[in-house]
Amino acid sequence: MQIIRSVAELESAIENFKKQGKSVGLVPTMGALHDGHVSLVSKCRKENDIAVVSVFVNPTQFNNKTDLATYPRDEKKDAALLESKGVDIMFAPQPEDVYSEEEMSKTFDFDFQGLDKVMEGLQRPGHFNGVVQIVSKLLSFVKPDKAYFGEKDFQQVAIIKLMVRTMGFKLEIVQCPIIREESGLARSSRNQLLSDDERKNAANIYRVLKESVNFVPSIAPAELTQKVVDEINACDGLQVEYYEIVNGDTLQKISSWDDADYVVGCVTVHCGKVRLIDNIRLK
Ligand code: PAJ
Repeated sequence: MQIIRSVAELESAIENFKKQGKSVGLVPTMGALHDGHVSLVSKCRKENDIAVVSVFVNPTQFNNKTDLATYPRDEKKDAALLESKGVDIMFAPQPEDVYSEEEMSKTFDFDFQGLDKVMEGLQRPGHFNGVVQIVSKLLSFVKPDKAYFGEKDFQQVAIIKLMVRTMGFKLEIVQCPIIREESGLARSSRNQLLSDDERKNAANIYRVLKESVNFVPSIAPAELTQKVVDEINACDGLQVEYYEIVNGDTLQKISSWDDADYVVGCVTVHCGKVRLIDNIRLK
């Protein structure tokens, strides 16, 4: 596996592979890799001649400096894991390798068509702008045939799909299911910031989400929303930031089960100092 840090070196390696007619897959990550990331990497490895994984804690998508400073990093461990999974290129740049000073401070010009005005977008202003900024850069460096994203970050996938459509990228976005710990807790790099007790408490998030499916369509979305919020808040150490039942394509709240064919319940919960997100398909 090649570990590449400069954009020029990355582009020239990719060009060489493309000249040989090889297909290229890309998995963008921020490192601290776990089984959730591995599921994307394995699928990418299987479906492409060349598997590229980026490991970059993107500063422009953090609206909170402490969150950026405490974000877990372990490049050596990540490199060993990616090597063992048969990855060809790990792209691990420094911020100055991908951004000019101006780009680091300026808002990226992108029309979200309202997709950034709900859920994570409301709670973390500027977050998705940074995500679109880095992912559009990675796609233009690597020009992959396929790029892999997890459904755990449900709003992120919807926004990436919009970006691909509106910015004219030619590739397939592959949406991958949520990988969970045995307890049901969605795997996340942030889980390592949880104490043992917090980890046990956090397992209740998925328990409540899973049970919520049984109430569709017998109780209305607004009522189910209140029920899920109350049940999670009743668990030790958990505080819901938001829970919304949305149309899975537009991310807009639904008021009746007939409003959409694809419906997802999305939640963010604070467990101690750690902010956890999860979601479940309801229809
Ligand atoms: P990161 O949080 O490292 O996640 C990288 C990819 O792994 C994302 O597509 C995410 O949805 C997926 N993923 C994380 N946990 C998962 C799980 N439990 N099951 C399935 N997939 C999971 O998301 C980002 O990084 C960044 O925003 C990025 C897209 C790399 C841009 O900086």
